[in-house]
Parts: sequence; C-alpha cells; structure tokens
Amino acid sequence: MEKNYRAELVGVLGDPVDGNPTGVMEEAGFEHAGLNWRYITVRVLPNDLDAAMAGVRAFNMRGVNLTMPHKINVLRHMDELSEAARVIGAVNTVVCREDGTMFGENTDGKGFVQSLTDAGISLSGASVCLLGAGGAARSIGVECALAGASAIAVINRNAQRGEALAKTIRDNTRAEARFIPWQGAARVPEGTDILINATCVGLHPHADACPDIDFNTVQPNMVVCDVIFNPVDTPFLTRAAARGARTIDGLGMLVNQGAINYTLWTGQKAPREVMYAKLREEFGIE
Ligand SMILES: NC(=O)c1ccc[n+]([C@@H]2O[C@H](COP(=O)([O-])OP(=O)(O)OC[C@H]3O[C@@H](n4cnc5c(N)ncnc54)[C@H](OP(=O)(O)O)[C@@H]3O)[C@@H](O)[C@H]2O)c1
Repeated sequence: MEKNYRAELVGVLGDPVDGNPTGVMEEAGFEHAGLNWRYITVRVLPNDLDAAMAGVRAFNMRGVNLTMPHKINVLRHMDELSEAARVIGAVNTVVCREDGTMFGENTDGKGFVQSLTDAGISLSGASVCLLGAGGAARSIGVECALAGASAIAVINRNAQRGEALAKTIRDNTRAEARFIPWQGAARVPEGTDILINATCVGLHPHADACPDIDFNTVQPNMVVCDVIFNPVDTPFLTRAAARGARTIDGLGMLVNQGAINYTLWTGQKAPREVMYAKLREEFGIE
C-alpha cells in the first residue's frame, strides 16, 4: 500500500493567539489515537478573516476553532449553524464537511456544563450568577439555561451587552434571566447556587487581577467557577475558597470543549484523559 504523507489539518484562528494551548492538547489526542492530524495555531488579524477562511477551504482543512476577535464575524461564512450557535450568536468551532459546506457550532458553554457534570454538580433548578456578558458568558449563560438552570443573574459593566444576554436567555430558554448593573463591588444575589466569572479579569499577564465583587456575599454553600485557565489558580477562586465555597477552575472547560471539537472533526471519541494530562503537564500542574 502506498504511504500517505498528507496530514489532515485543523487549527485555531485568532489574534492574540500565541498563548493559546489548544493545539498541544488536540495533537496529544491525535497522536494517542494514531491519527495523522495537525492542529495549527494561526495569527489572523481582524481584517484578514475572509482571506483566512478562503485559506481554510483552499487547504482542505477539516475544521477550525475561532477565538478573539473572530467568533462573530465568522458567522457570514457558515452554511449551517447549530441551534446553540444561532442563539448565542457566535461560533467557536467550524466543521468543514466533505460536500464543501461549513457547519458552525459553539462548544464553550457545553464544555463548561460538562465540567460541572464531571464534578457531580447539577444545573437542574439551579440559581446562577454570571459575571460578564461577552462571548464566553453568552455561551455559558445559554448552555446553563438549556441544562436546566432556573434563574440566571447577569452582572456586567456594559449595560447593553448585559441586557442583551439576559434577553437572549429569556427569549430562547425556560430560565428566568435578569441583568444587574456592575457598580462598585458587585454583590452576589442571595440564593445563588453557582457563581461564575466569565469575564477576562485575571487572565495572564494580569494574573493578580480579581473581578470586583463583595466576597462577603459569597457563601460556603456556593459553587464558584472561573473560566480563566491561565493561571489555573486565580485570586477569584482563592478568595472564594477562603469563604468556604467549592471551586471549579477553567481547565476542565478548556479540555471538555476541546474534546467535543475533537469528536466533531474526527468522528471519534476523544481521549479526554490524555488531553487533560497533556494540558496539566503544559501548565506544570502535578
Ligand atoms: N476555559 C475555557 O475553555 C475558556 C473558553 C473561552 C473563553 N475563556 C476565557 O473567557 C474570558 C472571556 O472571553 P470572551 O471571549 O468572553 O471575551 P469578551 O467577549 O471580550 O468579553 C469580556 C468580558 O469581560 C468583561 N470585563 C472586561 N474587563 C472587565 C473588568 N475590569 N471588570 C469587569 N468586567 C470586565 C467585559 O465586560 P464589558 O461588556 O462591560 O466590557 C465582558 O463581559 C477570556 O479570559 C478567555 O480566555 C475560557
């Protein structure tokens, strides 16, 4: 049999993208499964997305992830969207089909919900407080509501974005959703079960930064989650843990959305433990 030296290509397009570790994790999975697939990390400037998507086609890539600032602009290149991507209004994963069409999905929120499930935490009937209303927050808010959360309070600085997310959740799910303006140290509403930092506050290189909330309103019975994965131990989680709350870091979400993407592209079950171990090694976590 003739050898095939051609690798199947997937990757991520974004700017900035240099610090994105997804490729290391996906390639560990491909290697483990004996797949000759490569994940390339590509810097694509805001105005170059159209050319880059033409390149995705020209290179016969099997799919791509989109990160900042392309998750919304890529919508115009999609032939079909998943229900979640349509409601969220953003795509983080594209599947390039054999017939030449492109399918857009959003797996950020699904990865987050899976990380709660992995920790044995149910969203059914839960009261969620979501900090932020950007791309990650939209995905998490919608998926938490679809997974059964009964109430979602969105706290955000920008009122227009905050209101819009609350309305999206109300219009498309059964959950009650309300917007709370972020003024001074935000108070976590009484009765909150799950508090989530979905802002970019605390992300490397500003690892000392912490979302401005009143930690006296964080209760020991709350589950407190952070989307930030670099660093894994954020001041937000450390301070919540000091209040007695159970904490969930952003690494699980990253691995889970990566595993979902792996399956969307390859059609195979992702070797999630291998991918998780590789990321932990990458971050120097025991
Ligand atoms: N763990 C994972 O797998 C995973 C996956 C996706 C994203 N993420 C992380 O999620 C974070 C957010 O990404 P994104 O795509 O949602 O970004 P984005 O669309 O730019 O949204 C940023 C959000 O952060 C808020 N924000 C920024 N600075 C703030 C401050 N000083 N105080 C309060 N709020 C502030 C913004 O509020 P305004 O609307 O008021 O400006 C906005 O709601 C990033 O750190 C990203 O790395 C993690």
